[in-house]
Amino acid sequence: MESSSSVTGTAAPAAARKGPNGLVGLARFGANPLRFLDALRGDERDIVPFKLGTLRCHLVAAPHLVRAVLESKEWPPLSRGRLSSLARWYSGGLILTEGTWHGFQRRTLWQPVVGQPSIMDVTGLRAARCAGSWEDGATIDAFEELRTLVRTIDWQILTGDDLDARPDLLRAHERGISALAWLLGPFGDSRWGWPLPSSARARSARAVIDTEINRLIDERRGNPKSFGDLLAWFVDRLDTDVAEGDELICATVKQWLGADQLHSALTWALHLVATHPQVEARWHAELDLALGGRIPSPRDADLLPYTRHVLLEAMRLYPPIWGFFRQLTGEWRLGDTTLGAGDVIALSPWFTHRDERLWPDPLRFDPDRWRDGAAQPPPISYFPYSAGPYGCPAHELSPRQGVLVLATLGRSWSFKPADEREPTPLATGVIEPKGGLRMTLARRN
Ligand code: HEM
Repeated sequence: MESSSSVTGTAAPAAARKGPNGLVGLARFGANPLRFLDALRGDERDIVPFKLGTLRCHLVAAPHLVRAVLESKEWPPLSRGRLSSLARWYSGGLILTEGTWHGFQRRTLWQPVVGQPSIMDVTGLRAARCAGSWEDGATIDAFEELRTLVRTIDWQILTGDDLDARPDLLRAHERGISALAWLLGPFGDSRWGWPLPSSARARSARAVIDTEINRLIDERRGNPKSFGDLLAWFVDRLDTDVAEGDELICATVKQWLGADQLHSALTWALHLVATHPQVEARWHAELDLALGGRIPSPRDADLLPYTRHVLLEAMRLYPPIWGFFRQLTGEWRLGDTTLGAGDVIALSPWFTHRDERLWPDPLRFDPDRWRDGAAQPPPISYFPYSAGPYGCPAHELSPRQGVLVLATLGRSWSFKPADEREPTPLATGVIEPKGGLRMTLARRN
């Protein structure tokens, strides 16, 4: 770890301490966070200061400092800060927790389950079902289709049930996800209780989801081993029969559903392949040679290097989580800079993955950057899943799922852009194509 909690060193740059443009910054950031981040590229410093309203923020640009933040175990003074307002949706669980309790949950609840074989089995089955439901020549909204696919995969992994049969739950879940974005914004926590339609929708969505998850927990209580899903595993593991245990299980299920951003990565991967014919030809050649026409199995997730490189490169250009943060509860030294209590440390895969100081010709889609032997940028120039003790627990699982889904869809279909316009990336909870992504299907197999 390269940071220390020493409070000596130079103070944070003046612009971060009392820059005049906090309100302008807030408005610009709110209007288009990706453009806001791109505008910081002209600043060559390792840590780029900016203000959002009265909040002093510091974008960490140098990879060795990104690494120092991500790998630090100095919690406090590092904290999750305003992420705590997500308790309105989650009430606890891993992403709202710090320190020992956080480590305990990761070790006992998350790490043992992310490797369970049923996850890849369900992923493959649902992807094949999705591919089988499409019609030759049809135009789909790829973002919408893939989002629904990922949600149904997750729901079946977790509960064994088919989310296709429960549109009410899917709708409630999407409402919760859109509430997470405003919960993080100014007044988010109190807005939950306001008499606004969006707040009322979020509250009733939470009641719908919680009621269903608690019903499923009760069903498993007493005899969890007769169910083969992850919810039963959680119930068995936390066999406490106390309200706090159930609340933690409920939060864990909702966090799995809410954290999975694979649909965003898959959408951009399909778009990039469809607009780069040479990549598409090589991708199809790999699938045809490796699979010989059969439906991929979970084992194939580790046997399709070019498919994996396409996915990694899509997540470089369009990292689903475009930015995340830590907040300081006291002074903290990062590199040569001492940051103050209350300051926000911003980390942005969008910014770093497109930094021309780290990635030659950064806007070029080139899956070969990832082939064995290709020159690599410094460590932590690429962090779509974050890293360190608070990084994504699915960082190994999720790309394997992604390869399996891409291979299953790409084996049967090629995708052509239905619109001439280049999609505009829009930063919501993920990077999504503004207005969706219409693609026309042509059957291959
Ligand atoms: C393409 C898909 C995904 C992406 C890009 C992604 C990315 C991320 C990122 C950037 C973080 C933030 C970590 C931080 O603050 O340092 C995170 C955290 C997290 N992710 Fe993922 N994730 C994905 C899929 C998943 C899936 C499938 C799961 C469920 C198993 C999951 C569960 C979580 C959880 C629980 C956390 C909080 C970790 C903690 O607080 O210790 N993610 N993810």
